[in-house]
Amino acid sequence: MLPAPHFIAFNPPRRILMGPGPSDVYPEVLAAQARPTVGHLDPLFVGMMDELKSLIQYAFQTKNEMTMAVSAPGSAGMETCFVNLVEPGEKVIVCRNGVFGDRMRQNVERMGAIAVLVDNEWGTPVDPAAVEAALKAHPDARFLAFVHAETSTGALSDAKTLCALAKQYGCLSIVDAVTSLGGVELRVDEWGIDAIYSGSQKCLSCVPGLSPVSFSPAAVEKLKNRKTPVQSWFLDQSLVMAYWTSAGGKRSYHHTAPVNALYALHESLRILAAEGLENAWQRHHEMHLVLRAGLEKLGLNFVVAEDYRLPQLNTVYIPAGVDDGVVRTRLLKDYNLEIGAGLGALAGKAWRIGLMGFGARRENVSLCLRALEEVLS
Ligand SMILES: Cc1ncc(COP(=O)(O)O)c(C=O)c1O
Repeated sequence: MLPAPHFIAFNPPRRILMGPGPSDVYPEVLAAQARPTVGHLDPLFVGMMDELKSLIQYAFQTKNEMTMAVSAPGSAGMETCFVNLVEPGEKVIVCRNGVFGDRMRQNVERMGAIAVLVDNEWGTPVDPAAVEAALKAHPDARFLAFVHAETSTGALSDAKTLCALAKQYGCLSIVDAVTSLGGVELRVDEWGIDAIYSGSQKCLSCVPGLSPVSFSPAAVEKLKNRKTPVQSWFLDQSLVMAYWTSAGGKRSYHHTAPVNALYALHESLRILAAEGLENAWQRHHEMHLVLRAGLEKLGLNFVVAEDYRLPQLNTVYIPAGVDDGVVRTRLLKDYNLEIGAGLGALAGKAWRIGLMGFGARRENVSLCLRALEEVLS
């Protein structure tokens, strides 16, 4: 028999999370998660799930029936959209302007479909003209996929224009809103988005590990008319929705839902709804302006041009001669402050400073600027 390991309870410090996510979690959300666990088919719990669905619909600004939270992080939301809609051999136009666009490509190729790549330089948004050229060159494409807010660079793409183009050329749109939801304008129905996924740990300031998703009626039609079964049992929406809807008063077991994490998501979306979406977008913008002024005073330059810069994810070049690791370690050790390292092509070259959800507030901005000033001097 192996000897029993003896450890003390894990008790993390209270960090200030100003990286690319997870963001600072609302205290009310942490408290909600600590409430007593009930059964995942308890009538009180399924009543809460109905409210949660309405809250997700509000956050996405959609009336889509097929709206729920995948019991796994944003990557599973991404996979849910691709695996349910795309069939082997189908063509998907995939826009790549950072790390997460390339993850979309990998999803497409792993399911035996064909990815047609539209590449844009890192730090720039997806170019609608390049997308239109690809749509024209590939009239057999069935989908257009892109990342609304590219977390690896901090660039915001014009989802409204891109989805209109998809519609014009007979494609369904698949949109990554992991970092955009709750932080910048996003209107699923008005913009005609067909499949969208997000993450709980960014501008919703919830605990990580859940992915709100939504499918338009046209996407649901595509799913219903598949010629091949969805290759993932767990992510098959037609099975999962039997748990997420109580049509005819029946709700059946699909998997054991992460009950307490769903309390947390309910609470974070309730806080968002109480603030009002547009107020939340405005708050992110205002806090970004304060942070931007301070960063510029410190002589730090933004990677992304102002016109398409994400307020919730500020990417700045690391000044010449400054050691990335040393600075981030000191921020963490001396100030309990986490900022993000550069990702992919920007690794070692940039910092990513998040102002997401509960983190988009004045005291965080002030602390970050003061800490950076002290460490850099
Ligand atoms: C734009 C984008 N898409 C997808 C993901 C994957 O989400 P997760 O890490 O929750 O699986 C992330 C995570 O940072 C992201 O920023």
